[in-house]
Amino acid sequence: MHKKTLSDITCKGNRVLMRVDFNVPLDDQGNITNDKRIVEALPSIRKIVESGGRLILMSHLGRPKGKPVAELSLAPVAKRLSELLDTQVVMAEDCIGTGVMQQALALQDGEVMLLENLRFHPEEEKNDPEFAKELASLGEAYVNDAFGTAHRAHASTEGICHFVQPSVAGFLIEKELKYLGRALQNPERPFVAILGGAKISGKIDVLENLFGKVDAVLVGGAMIFTFFRAMGYDTGKSLVEEDKLELASRLLKKAEDNNIRLLLPTDVVAATEFSAEAETRTVDVASIPGDMMGLDIGPKTIDLYSREILQAKTVVWNGPMGVFELEPFAKGTIAIARALADATAKGAISVVGGGDSAAAVMQAGLASGITHISTGGGASLEFLEGKKLPGISALND
Ligand code: 3PG
Repeated sequence: MHKKTLSDITCKGNRVLMRVDFNVPLDDQGNITNDKRIVEALPSIRKIVESGGRLILMSHLGRPKGKPVAELSLAPVAKRLSELLDTQVVMAEDCIGTGVMQQALALQDGEVMLLENLRFHPEEEKNDPEFAKELASLGEAYVNDAFGTAHRAHASTEGICHFVQPSVAGFLIEKELKYLGRALQNPERPFVAILGGAKISGKIDVLENLFGKVDAVLVGGAMIFTFFRAMGYDTGKSLVEEDKLELASRLLKKAEDNNIRLLLPTDVVAATEFSAEAETRTVDVASIPGDMMGLDIGPKTIDLYSREILQAKTVVWNGPMGVFELEPFAKGTIAIARALADATAKGAISVVGGGDSAAAVMQAGLASGITHISTGGGASLEFLEGKKLPGISALND
């Protein structure tokens, strides 16, 4: 990584303004159901606090569309962070304004304050320069550790870097780039990528970017049916992107022309309807009944994919293999998570792009068996697509 980091700045006695991604899932009662993103920010937070910095944290939560929404207050996060740090985290009532500035100026060395949801102001997502400047005025140094939001050019991630110096990366961003970057730039081989998810349209850029780098791509999720339809198979009631058939054919041809091993499932678990109670049957991909839809990869495919994963030295996974939220269709995704953990135990580097596949690994209780689970959903996807992340580009080289 060619960016300055938190290790390059002086924290003692300075107001350090750090963007984090505390966009955590909440239940109906406002309880945090997964605190991974908070926990993963702790190394940077502790470094600043222990070096005597005056820490001002800022984040978004959900998509409040530019106005205050009580259910999307960051107060539950301040509470959880206080528990994790065993110290009181001051919760600000907003993220800008004179009151907030006074609170920031009153901070003592080693104290921590969390600003209220940045997206309560429409200027945040518009990357408004005045708003960015006002945020910047709170700190004497800026750290971005919000990997999950690094693909957004917002006021607190991109715009702010024009108004506060130094602007450096935190340890989580450094760690994410180390694992994701090494997999893409310098992988130990064989390098196997597993791509799942519902739509080819969402994964086309990742596929194309990975084509030149991997030894094999294993494909799962509903996007397989667009490939199968393009190959002339009858896919029954399975989800097919009719307007992407040409694209699917082009990708298959590109893989063939370039000797890329693009593996598709040989069997699927099909159901009469999209429901956990529906009648299910395991069928070969060439004989999906007309009144059924494929909702998971089948046992033969699990076996085939697991063997590929087990002989890999680098594995990158993004996107579930089936509808893992419904128990009858979770087996494929869980089996892939297990194969990743087994490969890791044998010495492979395994990287799980965030979002659904990260949730599946955690649901399966296999998180500790994976080398790196990204805290970024959209951000890790864009990184795998080979795109520049604006929140990182804006930092000091
Ligand atoms: C995420 O959860 O992927 C990030 O926090 C970004 O959130 P967004 O998709 O609402 O910008």
